[in-house]
Amino acid sequence: MSIQYLEKERVFCLNTPGSTYLMGIAAQEGFLGHLYYGTKLEDITGAVELFRTQESPYVPEKNERDRGSFMDKFPFEYSSHGVGDFRESSIRVRTMGGQTGTSLTYVKHEIYGGKRKLEGLPATFGQEDEVTTLVITCRDEATGLEVELSYSVFEKLDVITRSARIINGGLETLMLEKAMSGCLDMDGGEFDVLTLHGSWARERHMERKPLGHGEFAVSTLRGESSHQEHPFLGLLSKGADQVQGEVYGFHFVYSGNFVAKAQMSQFGQIRVVMGINPEDFCWKLEPGESFQTPEMVMVYSAEGIGKMSRTLHDLYRGHLIRSPWLHKKRPILINNWEATYFNFDADKIVSIAEESAKLGIEMLVLDDGWFGNRFDDNRALGDWWVNEDKIKGGMGELVAKVNALGMKFGLWFEPEMISPESELYVKHPDWALQIPGRKPCRCRNQYVLDITRREVRDAILEQVFQILHSANIEYVKWDMNRPLTDIGSAALPADRQGEVYHRYVLGMYEMQERLLQEFPNLLLENCSGGGGRFDPGMLYYSPQIWCSDDTDAIERLVIQEGTSLLYPLCCMGAHVSVCPNHTVGRSTPFATRGMTALTGTFGYELDVTKLSEEDKAAVPKQVRAYHACNDLIREGNYYRIASFWENRLYDCYQVVDDKKEKALVFFTQVLGEPAMHSRRLKLQGLKENAKYKLSLIDLEGEELLKDTGRVLGGSVLMHAGLQVERPWGDFQGRLFFLEEV
Ligand code: DGJ
Repeated sequence: MSIQYLEKERVFCLNTPGSTYLMGIAAQEGFLGHLYYGTKLEDITGAVELFRTQESPYVPEKNERDRGSFMDKFPFEYSSHGVGDFRESSIRVRTMGGQTGTSLTYVKHEIYGGKRKLEGLPATFGQEDEVTTLVITCRDEATGLEVELSYSVFEKLDVITRSARIINGGLETLMLEKAMSGCLDMDGGEFDVLTLHGSWARERHMERKPLGHGEFAVSTLRGESSHQEHPFLGLLSKGADQVQGEVYGFHFVYSGNFVAKAQMSQFGQIRVVMGINPEDFCWKLEPGESFQTPEMVMVYSAEGIGKMSRTLHDLYRGHLIRSPWLHKKRPILINNWEATYFNFDADKIVSIAEESAKLGIEMLVLDDGWFGNRFDDNRALGDWWVNEDKIKGGMGELVAKVNALGMKFGLWFEPEMISPESELYVKHPDWALQIPGRKPCRCRNQYVLDITRREVRDAILEQVFQILHSANIEYVKWDMNRPLTDIGSAALPADRQGEVYHRYVLGMYEMQERLLQEFPNLLLENCSGGGGRFDPGMLYYSPQIWCSDDTDAIERLVIQEGTSLLYPLCCMGAHVSVCPNHTVGRSTPFATRGMTALTGTFGYELDVTKLSEEDKAAVPKQVRAYHACNDLIREGNYYRIASFWENRLYDCYQVVDDKKEKALVFFTQVLGEPAMHSRRLKLQGLKENAKYKLSLIDLEGEELLKDTGRVLGGSVLMHAGLQVERPWGDFQGRLFFLEEV
């Protein structure tokens, strides 16, 4: 049993294969407190002493004179507000009297097999034999507020997920101003914080710095998880690296405003909280009503960052992504965005498809510009009818032509937006989010639709469904090209305007759910101006997300490294594009671009009719490599060997199958180095005693595999290293294949 309640000690013990999480009910007043989270404890005798409640002055009932000393130090499992704990609170409710104090004490608990759904929200899932859930109910006596703290423990993964359901059990209306999904009070220690930051075309770059006294936070108020900061926070013990050291990872299954904080108190205790950003959030709770927070994932690794990454990859592949495409090879696609931007017609698209089909590409994706009067990005969002000036003969005819070539067809939408210059806006100007008396801020010359409103969601989905039913469209790219501003809904009363941000996210989730219900086999790819909404919440709906509008192979090494810190490779949208690259102007070899894109879902984003003969001839070879390698890349275990982000010279990662019989090693010499003839790459994840045959995957030659004639022992590869020759020049990739002999 992974969750136990020790009646006598009043301690909850949560065990995963490699970690233990302990909390207890403090004897004196029934506060729920945190005791321990870390390496698995085989025997927890005496754990309750960790509360240190015998130490003066931490016995509140014996020291009523200075109760504050207790409140400000006790390791609360879900921190209170305004009653003596001056650290970060987990919850804040305002009563009709205008006050905000909250203090929660234990009432009851329940343990059950499996995991209940979170209403309207994406969340991890698991069967009764895969996950066990503990729900602890706490109550604030003064207001009648109840909080159900939920902990789901995964049997085979070092993961505990948390969320909170907040119930107004009193007789008065309460205004919920802050509701974190989880709080973790650790006794202390020296940690670095690891986060992901970025901007448009530079998403998810890693950043690591020491945690000191005070607060460290990442957050967003953009209404989406954002390019800029990521709903993740890692705490790394000093010196932790890919293979050793303690790592705590906190990841938020949500796609809107978030905050994640790590706070070090005066006594060196560390508190982590994660949840919906309380800024501009206020949810009205009538008596009897409840609010469900999104889910927070906690991972513990005693074997460095790499183990945390692999745990999250397994969690998301096994217990979050629902798509029937998850374990399937995705069709190799060609997207016309960088090929044509808005300047295309059906003939142009068919000519790209014809050439692509000859090279082995399997799906044509028609991007932005096929609908309404969309000749540029200044108009037509919301008018989801086919522009027959561009798509002569209509969508049915175009799709039929593409299908006749043996290719699938996919289509781009941006369902959450409205252009001021659109038929939809003329009819429904109040459907844009806006604050009365204030001209809404334009971004890419568009407004955001108020999808908190059911009638708005219905109207948009009706148009989308009509198009999708009109032709054999098997893939949808769902884009979102601007953040939210001017937060105001014409349909909500004044005291519910603080609900708009969250209702927007719930509305978007509901739209994606309905899309998938209508088209259960659809391959959905989410996107937000590149990777602005790449988060676990979106993975619940789409098995893949476009990583970034930056398709440069070298910038992608960093973006994809940051992304793979948390996400399995099978969900990273990655394409080969032309050079000089449209975002950074860099020129890299076609083979290196292919190798970097192979790490993700793989496809092309270029005008194949304009490719040089040499590059064109390389496409079928990359296609061949995709078919040979994708099962391993999609399902395998990921190991980071060297990081260009860290060393600024070269990059290396590895994917190994579960049986440790096969591995791919991706090595890129980013900058040529003088006086360096070869280097050693210390591989990971292999069998110590096995022997492996080393081949080179040739992305340009006639044969896929080039035998190197080398056979190497697993322990040699892992401890001494694989000696690789220095490639000549900048941006040179090498893809190795190891197979046990
Ligand atoms: C942003 C996306 O990331 C691009 O791939 C493309 O779809 C454009 N939007 C279209 O407007």
